[in-house]
Amino acid sequence: MTGGRPFVLVSNRGPVTFEDDGSVRRGTGGLVTALTGLASHRQSVWVASAMTEADARRAEEAGDRPFSVRSPTGGEYLVRLVASDPVAYDRFYNIFANPMLWFIQHYLWDLSNAPDVRRNEIEAFEYGYNVVNEDLANAVLEEIDGQLDPVVMVHDYHLYTLPGLIRRARPDAFLHHFIHIPWTQSDSWRVLPRKMREELFQGILANDIVGFHTQAYRLNFLQCCRDLLDLEVDFRRGIVHSEGRDVWIRSYPLPIDYGATLEVSRSERTQGFEEVLVRRRREHIILRVDRADLSKNVLRGFAAFDLFLEQHPEFSERVTFIAQLMPSRTDVPEYAEYLERIEALVAVVNHRHGTPDWMPINLKLRDDLEEAMASYKQYDVLLVNAMFDGMNLVAKEGPLVNERAGVSILSENTGAHEELGEFALSVNPFDIQELADSIHAALTMAPEERRRRIEGLKTIVTTRSPGDWIDDQLADIAEKASAERG
Ligand code: G6P
Repeated sequence: MTGGRPFVLVSNRGPVTFEDDGSVRRGTGGLVTALTGLASHRQSVWVASAMTEADARRAEEAGDRPFSVRSPTGGEYLVRLVASDPVAYDRFYNIFANPMLWFIQHYLWDLSNAPDVRRNEIEAFEYGYNVVNEDLANAVLEEIDGQLDPVVMVHDYHLYTLPGLIRRARPDAFLHHFIHIPWTQSDSWRVLPRKMREELFQGILANDIVGFHTQAYRLNFLQCCRDLLDLEVDFRRGIVHSEGRDVWIRSYPLPIDYGATLEVSRSERTQGFEEVLVRRRREHIILRVDRADLSKNVLRGFAAFDLFLEQHPEFSERVTFIAQLMPSRTDVPEYAEYLERIEALVAVVNHRHGTPDWMPINLKLRDDLEEAMASYKQYDVLLVNAMFDGMNLVAKEGPLVNERAGVSILSENTGAHEELGEFALSVNPFDIQELADSIHAALTMAPEERRRRIEGLKTIVTTRSPGDWIDDQLADIAEKASAERG
């Protein structure tokens, strides 16, 4: 596959998390979904951070070496968990990666108010972000020690300075970095002090190839290299010339593992949830499934539903909005506060429109894949209204398993919109009236139009698999490596 070259995966979140009660949970989020197929089907070591105390204990038990682990949703992985100093890790994860970088890369900062860059943030970069990047880089270097021409696949925004460290120690390694979140326009990066910004970009440009989900993010990245670093950029070929090397900038839209998703949708546990749902359901279900992240735009979704119920009282008692939200990054104050605002708004909307035997919004704050899958099968409207989102796999998984010709309402600022927009109702995620109108349009759409749309969506999401996604990247790795060997 990598032409026989050994290969190591590295990301902050690994495929599983160990809990204090001894249980093993599958990691949530798009990155884990993307990489699980890759790591379980091919011979590779997956280096990741120990994110919980139980993770750190497991790493110690394994003598800080790779060990094999089975994910509760299937698949077996060779994982090496790296425990960093807890204070450094907290600075890395809760201050610098989230919210600082995540907010920059989703346009979430409210610039007249935040962020303030003070010692706290500078130190979070120097003694947090860089330390964790070093720890993971050292583990990768150990894994590739003694190997000829290894390939290292680096993942996401947590690890922008890691490639520079590997490049310095192992100039022969092939470094491929995939970024799972949007790449924003140059000015949004000006929040960061110049020195820090340059360190981050230099780290990324130590890679051989940098991949994004969409053409738009790829172009933004190229433009950043020109605007912020004054580098020579070939926009047509997607190449940045940096320190005498060519870095290829590519886009590889991530497909879902439709076979595995269908399997979960047919499992006994999913069917159990589905039976209860069908028994209790109203005429219509509107569904959203998200991590409770500010970028997902949960509040405007409820505001639009509120407006819809006000403008269309004929739907009273006939529709339930199920919102399955997985609490996320709850040690970051912005996220904890967001959860509180979500709960408060749900209470207001339910109080305003509810009746003694009808609760308009059913908020489920938990991470349960099968429960979400049961709702996927039963929705009439799927709401994906993220303000900005790298790809959004819910927009792909929902239509795949849905059995009611459900209509997708899809934000034009999601990566998935580049592929699925044609068969969805596209919305501007900030336009609450448009969102309310789209809910109405979806719920009153003619059956044949609903079928045409969902068939279109099902076709697109079953055309490619994560295996194809990886193959495209491996083909580029092989092409670039052979071009460089001459
Ligand atoms: C997004 C990011 C991933 C991250 C996931 C879950 O999908 O691109 O890198 O793993 O969110 O977030 P968490 O902070 O829980 O790992």
